[in-house]
Amino acid sequence: MDTMPDAIASAVARRVDEAGRVCVLTGAGMSAESGVPTFRGTQDSLWSRFDPMRLATADAWRADASLVWAWYRWRMRIVRQAQPHAGHRALAALARRHPCVSLVTQNVDDLHERAGSTVNAHVHGSLFALRCFDCGLAYDGPLGDFLSDAQRVPPMACPACGGGIRPGVVWFGEALPDDAWDAATDAARRCDLMLVVGTSGLVHPAAGLPALARRHGATVVEINPEPTALSGEADHVWRATAAEALPGLLAASA
Ligand code: APR
Repeated sequence: MDTMPDAIASAVARRVDEAGRVCVLTGAGMSAESGVPTFRGTQDSLWSRFDPMRLATADAWRADASLVWAWYRWRMRIVRQAQPHAGHRALAALARRHPCVSLVTQNVDDLHERAGSTVNAHVHGSLFALRCFDCGLAYDGPLGDFLSDAQRVPPMACPACGGGIRPGVVWFGEALPDDAWDAATDAARRCDLMLVVGTSGLVHPAAGLPALARRHGATVVEINPEPTALSGEADHVWRATAAEALPGLLAASA
């Protein structure tokens, strides 16, 4: 693809307009311009400041639920204070205009929904889908002092069994939600075009979705300012950020 932004936007827009089914796969980079830290790469990314093995595993929760819960409350607070950006809104507008756009996200925030998108699959769960760590009961009770930036915050107690209330995100070593994964693989198999926005492509099985789409005949376009583990699998790469590329794509499409 030509390196001029308008030319790339027009070329990808043409692909979108020609595609019967579009699947959009997003990662943490999709939320970066809303002020939500990504997991890897930059010095202020989550994993450069925290050890994922100490925070995003069931063993970490068993060892110190108050530390893990405080970290997720901090992330929930950041998401609540964040706003969807023009890229989120452009994706929602594109889906309203195009007959078949499926949105699969690795993100656990709700910025796509708050921009008006329907998310077909949150393959790594959702920050705000709280449930009991012990009995699995869904929890929609009070979150307590949400603004506290304490390093340890005891999780709320399950009203049914007294267990700790955990975030509904997929921790390392846990299985992806069956329904979300089935929806994601179905969208990847059936699409003619997959737009991969803001993911390093390092965490499987989600990182295997672009290859699955390609095996079923789809064209894959990566939208990311940096090269990734997926760049070699993409038919085209668009070195731009989500908030730059997606509004341009919307403007250039029919
Ligand atoms: N626009 C688009 N892409 C961006 C932007 C931006 N403004 N800023 C950063 N990126 C890109 C980075 O270049 C990187 O490739 O977003 C990607 C972020 O990569 P990660 O931080 O690894 O996030 P992600 O790929 O979503 O991680 C996958 O790993 O830790 C788990 O469960 C977590 O869902 C997450 C999974």
